[in-house]
Amino acid sequence: MDLQAIQDEALAAIKSSGDEAALQELRVRYLGRKSELAGALRGLGKLPAAERAVAGQATNRAKQAVEAALDARRDELRAAREVGLADHEWLDLTLPARRPRRGHLHPITLVENDLEKLFWGMGYRVVEGPWIEDEFHNFDALNIPASHPARDDWDTFWLSDGNLLRTHTSPVQIRAMRRFGAPLKAVFPGRVFRNESVDATHEAVFGQLEGLVIGRDITPGHLFHSINAILGALLEEGVRTRYRPGFFPFTEPSFECDIMRDGRWLELCGMGMVHPHVLRAGGIDPDEWTGFAFGLGIDRLAMMRYGIDDIRWFHSGDQRFLEQFPCA
Ligand code: PHE
Repeated sequence: MDLQAIQDEALAAIKSSGDEAALQELRVRYLGRKSELAGALRGLGKLPAAERAVAGQATNRAKQAVEAALDARRDELRAAREVGLADHEWLDLTLPARRPRRGHLHPITLVENDLEKLFWGMGYRVVEGPWIEDEFHNFDALNIPASHPARDDWDTFWLSDGNLLRTHTSPVQIRAMRRFGAPLKAVFPGRVFRNESVDATHEAVFGQLEGLVIGRDITPGHLFHSINAILGALLEEGVRTRYRPGFFPFTEPSFECDIMRDGRWLELCGMGMVHPHVLRAGGIDPDEWTGFAFGLGIDRLAMMRYGIDDIRWFHSGDQRFLEQFPCA
């Protein structure tokens, strides 16, 4: 084939090549070591000297023409590919980001947080105790020895190792007294467990917030004032409360606090002056110190605050219920 024919064929093939891989094959076919042009260049040496210069120039021109066509087509194909990329792979940086869906705080958590904040503001520290307790902290140290009939008041989940799921937050009183000594102002929020049958007002798992104040000359007046202040802040200003005599082995005297809701008195929490035996079990001298303690039911408070008529909603996991409460 003569040079012109080779060049024409090559240029036509290059022009119609559709992608860079095909183009690379053409480069090998027309310029590679086994190509006709390479063969022609190699054969120049055998030509008579007079023809060599002319033939050499012609072959080189053909070679350069093919090279230039290859490079030009390569640039074209690249540019086209990049334009294509811009069509398919683009990002609109002005689009607003998709917001993560926000969850809702559980009503028990909301009430617990508010209680902690309120007590914190009144100078109480917030302390937590273990859910799994021993008999000593849950009962004995609280003036409830094994033989005491009051043990039956707390239907207990006993564990096989002799420990138990705490039936109230009162055992944290003992832990806090031993840890911090007197004087002391602290609240202990957390879950408690009772082996009870469940109905609209009773759950086997519920939240309590225990309060303990130990100082000199602490009286029931301090106790009533503190509870009124907290309930006023949590529910509504001037909420009506009533204090009745009650009985707990770990307080003497003991009281029950009732609260007025829709014209009815509802039992809200137990409380009293810390029993000297309990102070002693906590390593505090009852001749020098007095104190009060109370145990607020968090679920009860949440029911009153949000008008919830059945305690079982709290652990229902029902989204329609949970979504009615504010986000975090
Ligand atoms: N621990 C008692 C209960 O769970 C409540 C309480 C706490 C009573 C502190 C008096 C003082 O019923």
